[in-house]
Amino acid sequence: MNTSLFNGLFFLLLVLLTLGLFACESGPESPKGFSLPQGDIAMGETTFLKYQCLACHTLDGVEDESVIKVFEQPVRLGGRYSIVKTYAQLVTSIINPSHKLAPRSIHLESVVTEDGLSKMPIFNDVMTVTELVNIVAFLQPKYKVKPMQYTQYHHYHIP
Ligand code: HEC
Repeated sequence: MNTSLFNGLFFLLLVLLTLGLFACESGPESPKGFSLPQGDIAMGETTFLKYQCLACHTLDGVEDESVIKVFEQPVRLGGRYSIVKTYAQLVTSIINPSHKLAPRSIHLESVVTEDGLSKMPIFNDVMTVTELVNIVAFLQPKYKVKPMQYTQYHHYHIP
């Protein structure tokens, strides 16, 4: 391939990538402007155990012998190959589990209901927002997702 054609294609690729980025950034459905307060990782682990997430999940470095396992093949949380790639997706997968099923679970019939919904319970009526924020803070580093831009609180100076 000659250099100018290569350069042309490379430029085109850059333009497409840029457009792709902007496409995700705009529109009422975009997660732009979404922000939760900074969570407490240690409290997040406590909450993770409290709601017995390990009944259906595995998470590297976290065990709880007292929990009764629901699935023969639990859904692994964290790691590189999960569908969850952003902070917003991590929050979504907890407050709206059927929104997008983890790719591996599509093969595991037993983790979805006959209607194709996630068997993951909806915790929204029992889990407080603080607990959610803490759980997400705890899980986020296990996912290698891009860290969230937290709300910056500035001190107001009254002149
Ligand atoms: C009764 C079983 C069950 C329990 C309990 C459960 N989950 Fe799930 N969860 C699932 C199933 C099944 C999936 C995979 C299908 C899907 O994506 O919804 C899933 C998916 C997820 C995902 C996305 C997985 C990925 O990597 O893409 C996250 C994050 C998650 N669960 C967090 C939690 C947390 C946090 C708790 C505890 C508060 C919890 N789950 C409790 C069944 C469960």
